[in-house]
Amino acid sequence: MIKSGSEGVVNAFRENYGKEDAMVRSPGRVNLIGEHTDHNLGFVLPAAVDKYIHLAIRLRDDRGLRFLALDKGEGFAGSLEEIRSSKAQWPNYLLGVLSEFRELGLELRGVDCAFGGDVPIGCGLSSSAALEGGFAFGLNELMGFGMDRVALAQLSQRSENRFVGVNCGIMDPFASLMGRAKKLIRLDCRDLSYEYVPFEREDIRIVLCDSQVRRSLTGSEYNIRRAQCEQGVAILRSHTPSIQSLRDASLEDLEAHRPEFSPEIFRRCAYVIAENQRVLTACAALERGDLKVLGAAMNETHAGLAHGYEVSCPELDVLAETAQAMPGVLGSRMMGAGFGGCTINLVEAEALASFETGMGEVYRNRLGKEPVIHVCKLRGGTEFIG
Ligand code: GLA
Repeated sequence: MIKSGSEGVVNAFRENYGKEDAMVRSPGRVNLIGEHTDHNLGFVLPAAVDKYIHLAIRLRDDRGLRFLALDKGEGFAGSLEEIRSSKAQWPNYLLGVLSEFRELGLELRGVDCAFGGDVPIGCGLSSSAALEGGFAFGLNELMGFGMDRVALAQLSQRSENRFVGVNCGIMDPFASLMGRAKKLIRLDCRDLSYEYVPFEREDIRIVLCDSQVRRSLTGSEYNIRRAQCEQGVAILRSHTPSIQSLRDASLEDLEAHRPEFSPEIFRRCAYVIAENQRVLTACAALERGDLKVLGAAMNETHAGLAHGYEVSCPELDVLAETAQAMPGVLGSRMMGAGFGGCTINLVEAEALASFETGMGEVYRNRLGKEPVIHVCKLRGGTEFIG
């Protein structure tokens, strides 16, 4: 887990590299509903939260690169002359961003960067997008590239796709860079139009239960799912050319061509199409202040991710299904790419204490683990803090 506060990052930077030019704070994200819809060009409903990656950055006068990952206690030294994938993995999040700026024909300078934070790694809060987006944000300002936040989110996504090798969608860097206090972001991942949806209910808490399962297959399975969705689109498009992504398809379209689908690809596509619809239902319910409907949709999402998209795991199922049955819980589901990470729970404020006690028992008795539970606040996106 990354656990360094901004002070720890500044101190480490100064000890190793001297005075920083800037400190950037980049938030992790939650997603209320709309899982695996972003790469199918559908809708999502994420928000930036009060868990951060902090980055200390200074430009150099030469072509050198020095990075320090505080929470790993590891350093990296390289050069802009040879930006290539590092076996250590973590430097790739920064190298990929540099590589994407260079692809745009921008003139780069060498850079020193130390980072750390309290976004738990691999727990579905998207620490990687927070890191990529934060680095891109800092360099954009310091090197005077003049790109806007949406362009930086797109650049971060390309960096993850091309340099890290995960074919993820736009949701995570978008939420981290574009977040607003007390707001969810209803994002159309096709044209990137978005709307801030107020979420100011003092009587409701957004609570994450960390399964503490970290699976390295997230990236490979993610890419397999994405390819399966594309196979489904190819079948549908051969009949209806206007279907360019699963976002354009209905369950009726899918049903009409069922014999051409393998059962597995059918399940994947059916999940995505239904999930996209659920985001719209959930947004309409939020507008009416009807969080019961939103919560019920979240529960359906979990079932779909577990049985249709098949990216859950036993620990996540235990956490979501027991939470769903608890009083004061409006909805509970696994969040993020899957195969581990957190569940997201909408819990009535009055029921928070009993939820934590009840889930504590579930952790200890059914998972054999100590509970790790985070109550999140919705916060603004990536910014300079000094
Ligand atoms: C990961 C990806 C996102 C999104 C989610 C699933 O977080 O980075 O682009 O696809 O999984 O919704």
